[in-house]
Amino acid sequence: MNLTVRKRVLTVAGVALAGLLAGAVPAATAEQASAAAPDIPVANVKQHLADLQSIATANGGNRAHGRAGYKASVDFVKAKLDAVGYTTTLQQFSSNGRTGYNLIADWPGGDPDQILMAGAHLDSVTSGPGINDNGSGSAAILETALAVARAGHQPDKHLRFGWWGAEELGLVGSRYYVGNLSSAERQKISGYLNFDMIGSPNPGYFVYDDDPVIEKTFKDYFAGRGIPTEIETEGDGRSDHASFKSAGIPVGGLFTGASRTKTSAQVQKWGGTRTAFDRCYHSSCDTTSNISDTALDRNSDAIAHAVWTLSSGATTPPPGTVFENTTDVSIPDNGPAVTSSVTVSGIPGNAPADLAVGVDIIHTWRGDLVVDLVAPDGSVYNLKPYSAPDSADNVQATYTVNAAAETAAGTWKLRVQDRAAYDTGYISSFRLTFP
Ligand code: TRP
Ligand code: ZN
Ligand code: CA
Repeated sequence: MNLTVRKRVLTVAGVALAGLLAGAVPAATAEQASAAAPDIPVANVKQHLADLQSIATANGGNRAHGRAGYKASVDFVKAKLDAVGYTTTLQQFSSNGRTGYNLIADWPGGDPDQILMAGAHLDSVTSGPGINDNGSGSAAILETALAVARAGHQPDKHLRFGWWGAEELGLVGSRYYVGNLSSAERQKISGYLNFDMIGSPNPGYFVYDDDPVIEKTFKDYFAGRGIPTEIETEGDGRSDHASFKSAGIPVGGLFTGASRTKTSAQVQKWGGTRTAFDRCYHSSCDTTSNISDTALDRNSDAIAHAVWTLSSGATTPPPGTVFENTTDVSIPDNGPAVTSSVTVSGIPGNAPADLAVGVDIIHTWRGDLVVDLVAPDGSVYNLKPYSAPDSADNVQATYTVNAAAETAAGTWKLRVQDRAAYDTGYISSFRLTFP
């Protein structure tokens, strides 16, 4: 099905979700569920970058797929994780006639049927040491994983971290990993967070526009600290989240910009200069000097916040999360019903008693139309009956539906049928807002 679902989120004042939840969780689990993410020491993240730089320097100046510097990088990260109690797995694959590796680290415990993953590619290009691309994401998730161990954090969900090989050859490692999961294993992954280039020296603060709950978790985090963000647009699908997204797994992530030039508007909001976000992208100068400590620090803390927040089963999604489909669907005149769908994920339990259903239908005689909301299990809620004499244009309204009897997660449909000849139109958008 060739359906583009664009999800967006309402702007609400940033709130610390863990703080909000503190009063809402049962006393017995409050200690664990409400524990806020720790501040990630940026000095530790920088030390990992210095170590990756040394590995590159000792191995011909890079950490590229099939080269000694890549395997040494994997061994370095693996040793840190093994030392604090992770269960690590090396997954071997072959690309361009050379052996590649993914490193998978599982934190023991949590619900094995609900897995939150965070990942980063660990390979560089051959032309340089790859410290921003992507030592930065690799080091930040490593330090987040170590922080989980230091805190003795026992989230409701199972936590898994992944360092991918051969991303620079076309997302090879992450594709291999996802391709080797059974469909049952894929379905257990409730979310994948990707971090590729998060310390660009002339940084922007970009959030992937994908799963609405993940996206809003990051946006609220930055908003709460007065840091403006923008939607990532420098090449959707250009990193490992694409491998997970194509398998239907909800994804999100952060990015500070690659070779594109920062605009004057972006300089106004973030500082820096009207030059490339990363002038050393894919070149030999992508060294430890090619890092903004501020960006690395902020993004590392945002990663820990998201890992803590999204791994809690008691988490309610950020208030005002919107799932929206803006693909036009034409409504045949006096014909069969048509639908527009949105898939809700990341919302545990049932839908609310005050689910807001936003409908935007363009039509030249709205009386012709019957409009229903169809829940994932097929239950039908009529939003607008056939009303022949109503000759006004369009159905543009937000209906409040008591959907408390429905499971929130799944595919919801707006079903529209035109029951009278002559006037026609189309569904312009359909959105569900979870309060
Ligand atoms: N993945 C690219 C690389 O490693 C960098 C990149 C370009 C990127 N655009 C992106 C990463 C958007 C994440 C999101 O060369
Ligand atoms: Zn990269
Ligand atoms: Ca009609």
